[in-house]
Amino acid sequence: MTTSDKNRVVIFDTTLRDGEQSPGATMTHDEKLEIAGMLDEMGVDIIEAGFPIASEGDFAAVTEIAKNAKNSVICGLARANFKDIDRCWEAVKHADKPRIHTFIGTSPLHRAIPNLNKDEMAERIHDTVTHARNLCDNVQWSPMDATRTEEDYLCRVVEIAIKAGATTINIPDTVGYTAPVESADLIRMLINKVPGADDIIFATHCHNDLGMATANSLAAVEGGARQIECTINGLGERAGNTALEEVVMALKVRNDIMPFTTGIDTTKIMNISRRVATVSGFAVQFNKAIVGKNAFAHESGIHQDGMLKNAETFEIMRPEDVGLSGTSLPLGKHSGRAALRDKLDKLGFEMGDNELKDIFVRFKDLADRKKEVFDEDLIALVRQEDTEEDARIIVKSLAVVCGTEGPQTAEMTLEIDGKDHSTKATGDGPVDATFNAIKALVEHSARLQLYQVHAVTEGTDAQATVSVRMEENGMIVTGQSADTDTVVASAKAYVTALNRLLVRREKTEPGYDVKGVSYKDVS
Ligand code: KIV
Ligand code: ZN
Repeated sequence: MTTSDKNRVVIFDTTLRDGEQSPGATMTHDEKLEIAGMLDEMGVDIIEAGFPIASEGDFAAVTEIAKNAKNSVICGLARANFKDIDRCWEAVKHADKPRIHTFIGTSPLHRAIPNLNKDEMAERIHDTVTHARNLCDNVQWSPMDATRTEEDYLCRVVEIAIKAGATTINIPDTVGYTAPVESADLIRMLINKVPGADDIIFATHCHNDLGMATANSLAAVEGGARQIECTINGLGERAGNTALEEVVMALKVRNDIMPFTTGIDTTKIMNISRRVATVSGFAVQFNKAIVGKNAFAHESGIHQDGMLKNAETFEIMRPEDVGLSGTSLPLGKHSGRAALRDKLDKLGFEMGDNELKDIFVRFKDLADRKKEVFDEDLIALVRQEDTEEDARIIVKSLAVVCGTEGPQTAEMTLEIDGKDHSTKATGDGPVDATFNAIKALVEHSARLQLYQVHAVTEGTDAQATVSVRMEENGMIVTGQSADTDTVVASAKAYVTALNRLLVRREKTEPGYDVKGVSYKDVS
C-alpha cells in the first residue's frame, strides 16, 4: 500500500491545555511559550495553546503563542457560549493560522449539567458554531463525552455542527471508557452516516483511564480519523491523554500495517519530553514507552549479548530516531570548553559565549564531585541555570548535621533580594530540618503537596533530581533541582517553587513585593 495525502495524520498537541489542566502541572507564561516554540519546531500541526477565558494568564499565553507561531495552527478552547468564543478569538486571531475549538458535553450525564434537553442543546450547538465560524474560518467542534452519547443523537449534533461551518469534528473519549474496536467503529459509523462528513476532518481525543488511549487513537485512525489529539509524555487530567511520542512512533515503526504519515521530526522527541517533565514537575516513569529512561536500556546479559551482535535483536527503533545519541560518551573533569559546547549542541542547547562560560564553571564544579558527567547531568545543569536567573531567593549555604538519634539540624543562609539571612532549624530528618529552616527565613502559608526524588544517573555519586509541588490559596507551583547532594537539591527545589510563588503573586496582586513574604534572621 502506498502512502498518499489522504493518509496524512494531523498531530494536534494539547499539552498546554488538557495537559496543563492536570492538577499540579501548571506552567509559567515563559515556560508555555518555550514549549509552544518546541512543538512548532518539531512539526506539530496544531497547538492547542490554552483556554483563553479561564484566566488572564491563559489569555496572555495564548495571545503570545499566537503572535510567535511560525508554522503551526494555534488553537484556543471555548465553551459553547458567545463570550468564551469571542475571548478565544481575541487571543488566537494574532496567529497566521488561527483555530477556535468549541465544545459542549452531549452525553445524557453531561446534558444534565447545563440542564438542556436534546433540542435546546442542538440549537445551542448550531448558534455557537455559526458564531465561531463567522469569526474564524478554521473551527473545531467537540461533543464532549462522545463515546457515551447515544449514537443517533451524536449523528444529529455532528451534522448540525458541520452544517454550521465546523471544519474539524473531534470525538472525545473524555473519561477513557472506550476500547479499540469501538473507537474505530464509532468514527467509521459517523463517516458513513452523517451528511457532509466527507468534507471535514474527524479527530480522536482519548484519555488513558484504562491504559488504552494510544490503542484507541490508532484504531480511530483505522476507522477514518485523520487528526490525533495528544500530549507530550501523555500529560493530562487523571491518567492523562494519548502520548504524542507513542502514536507518532507507532505510526513510524509499524508503517507496514498502519500506512499513515505525520509531519513530526521524531528526533526532537526526547528534548521536549525532558523539558515538559521539568516544567510540569511530572517526572516520566522509567519504563514509559519511547521516552522512559529504560526504554532503550538493555540490562540483562542475554539482551546485551544479542544487542552487541545485532542491535535489531531487541531494538525495534533506534535511539537516534527519538533524539537519544546512541553512543553517548560521558564528559569528565579534564574535558574542555570545546567538548562541552559540542555535547550541548548535540543535546539541542544553543549557547552564547557568556552562557557557555557560566555553564562551564558549573560543569567543572560538578565534574570535581562526580567522576563522569552524563548527558542527563548536563541537561539538569542547564535547566538549573535557567531557573536561577532572576531568582529573588537563592540558597547560599547549607550544613546539615545528621545523627542516628534525631532530631537533625540544618544551618542555612539564603540570599533574599540581595541580602543574606541565616538560621538554624531542627526536623525529623535532614530534608525536614532544611525545609523548616527555609520556612523560618521565608514565612509563607504554602503547603507542600508533593516531594519526589529521582536519581539522574546511576552510582552513589549520581545527581538527584528533586521535584516539589506546593499550593497556596489555590495557586499551585512546582520546583525542580539537581545536585549530587539530595538535601541540597531538595533545598534548591523548594526555593525554586517559592520564587515562582512570588512571581505568580506579583502578577495576581499588582504592587506586591517580596515583603508579602516575611523573612527574618533567627541566628
Ligand atoms: O476530554 C475532553 O472531552 C476534552 C474536550 C474539551 C475536548 O478535553
Ligand atoms: Zn480531554
